[in-house]
Amino acid sequence: MFRKFLSTADFYEADALLIAGDITAKTISPIIQGRDGKFRAKFAGTVHDALSEAELRPIEQKIADSGQYPARLSEDEYEAIRTEPGRIDALFTELMAQQIGRWTQMAEDHLAPRGVPLLWIGGNDDKPDALMHVRDTPHVRYIDEAVTRFDEDHEILGFGWTNPSPWDTPRELPEDELATRLSRVVKQVKDPEHAIYLMHAPPYGTGLDIAPKLDKSFDPPRPVTQGGQEVLIPVGATSFRDSIQETQPLLTLHGHIHETRNSAKIGRTLAVDPGSEYSTGSLRGAIINLEPNRVLSFQFTTG
Ligand SMILES: [Fe+2]
Repeated sequence: MFRKFLSTADFYEADALLIAGDITAKTISPIIQGRDGKFRAKFAGTVHDALSEAELRPIEQKIADSGQYPARLSEDEYEAIRTEPGRIDALFTELMAQQIGRWTQMAEDHLAPRGVPLLWIGGNDDKPDALMHVRDTPHVRYIDEAVTRFDEDHEILGFGWTNPSPWDTPRELPEDELATRLSRVVKQVKDPEHAIYLMHAPPYGTGLDIAPKLDKSFDPPRPVTQGGQEVLIPVGATSFRDSIQETQPLLTLHGHIHETRNSAKIGRTLAVDPGSEYSTGSLRGAIINLEPNRVLSFQFTTG
């Protein structure tokens, strides 16, 4: 999916690429190495046993391409991890940091000859401990909780923290704390009229934030149904909506809510969220055609 995303620079002749967060994997897929040196791996519900190194490699690649982290572990390491949750957490952080480093380099190698910059933020699912290790390259810039120049005419603000989700994720905050954290960054914007806000969560009640209502008393949370239908509710951030209403940037770009693919006008501000279908292998995006003083047009893409 990430390789496909990088190729959009050529396909759509983009001047810049933006990512609105949640780029890391949500699960680890353990690959156990027995004392005989053979591997055991599980992919798509099937257990593959007694694999040689050569037999394992394509399965390992499939696991990685499906959006999980394959992790090679000895029997002893696997047992230790199963019994100590802290170790899973540490392994997760390490794998996330490795992935981010690998993808940053991949993006730099692809985009440098084209002179196309990539600006990105984390999302609520990307762990702070992994994001701490992010390093910028000449063409790949991490702009979370920062305001920077986008081009001659525009500034860009990045903000990846979100309002509370049903999943208790690593980078979510109650609305009042979120508002305080956001306002510290918004204050750095010199000219909101020409600013772009790249924010992971969409603003509340704008049609960009419609998702199934979930019952948190189940683990994992389950959709609430009524008459056989999933109940849909707005789940965006009220502090984001308030801040956008107040400061009126030119454009805001969002991710986070997979189910919604929508745009809205909030006063003079255009807000856009392309949604996500990454688990089906389909890349959703939006092409924004930006002029100095206005958004000339935008178009959703699927590919
Ligand atoms: Fe998210």
